[in-house]
Amino acid sequence: MIRNILMRMRKTFLLVGIPSLFGVTLTAQIDPQYQGWMRSMLPSLTAIQKAADNAAAADAATKLAETFDQVAAYWKPKQSPDAVGFAEAARDAAKAIAAGSADKAANLRKIQAQCNGCHMAHRGDDDPDRSAGGGKIPAGWSVRPDRGTADQINFTSVGDTYRFAMGPAGTFYRSDWTKSGNYGFSARLTQKQAPSHPISYGLSIGGSDQAGPNQTYSYFLVRSRGEYFIANREGDRTWFSPRIFSIKQPLTVVDWTAHPAIVKQGADGRQTNTLGIQVEGDSVIFTVNGTEVTRLPKSKIHTDGMYGFRIGHNLDVDVDQVNR
Ligand code: HEC
Repeated sequence: MIRNILMRMRKTFLLVGIPSLFGVTLTAQIDPQYQGWMRSMLPSLTAIQKAADNAAAADAATKLAETFDQVAAYWKPKQSPDAVGFAEAARDAAKAIAAGSADKAANLRKIQAQCNGCHMAHRGDDDPDRSAGGGKIPAGWSVRPDRGTADQINFTSVGDTYRFAMGPAGTFYRSDWTKSGNYGFSARLTQKQAPSHPISYGLSIGGSDQAGPNQTYSYFLVRSRGEYFIANREGDRTWFSPRIFSIKQPLTVVDWTAHPAIVKQGADGRQTNTLGIQVEGDSVIFTVNGTEVTRLPKSKIHTDGMYGFRIGHNLDVDVDQVNR
């Protein structure tokens, strides 16, 4: 885990060091005070780890506890109770070490679990949106980018194939693609080259007010590791990280789940799967390459409304064999 953080740290230094490469707007948003707290943590952890016993670790543990207290206070007004929880749990474990009362190794593990948990939820990835250029969108289509602007996205239609070259992630829809009641919608999606980390893409359904602040829709995505994900968008729930101030957060319905029907990314970086959504009475059936991966009660999913595609950031994806 520590190696992982060190690697990310190195990446972060790079990001700070070469603003011209990654764009000044991103680097400008790093909160230096927050970064200072984070950078002080690894040395404290290492000191605790190396200390012969709790007594020898007391100074470093006290410093760590104080830092976590500041981190918790930082997150309190940001409507992120989970982040406050991670920081406070880590603080309490550091305090226990400082008090000399508890098992040092067990508390260290507890602290590291909080580092991981909070990073998973609140650390922006060090993979800024590229600009795929053009801002081209075929007539009739609309896109809602998660952040940045539609000018960073290039979407063309060639014969029966839709070609998406993404900057920021986005959801694509059109007012004359709507369905309600019982229906099926499927398409074959091909990721054309490996992303720097697993990024998802797939189908969206049940859209309403998709350009507005109260947009609702559901989506069914896959990613390189052979996993799927189902989520709802219900309005602009914003997510906060000291780096990325606001990202539109989905409400997870089925978290990332591996399924053998999903073809994984190949050695050449390509991945092709046919995704399908079938609304049948009170059920919504999700298929990959014709195999049902899950079915959910219709009450959990937005099904009536606009449908289309959702493609993750920086991906190049071709969509064909659209069945609607
Ligand atoms: C309450 C949430 C939270 C906890 C707990 C937490 N971190 Fe972080 N950490 C973050 C966030 C958010 C960032 C990204 C900040 C940014 O990029 O602006 C970060 C960034 C970092 C960085 C990179 C700093 C840099 O150079 O930009 C390091 C190193 C780090 N954390 C170490 C740790 C360690 C070690 C622990 C546990 C001992 C820990 N963090 C616990 C939220 C947390």
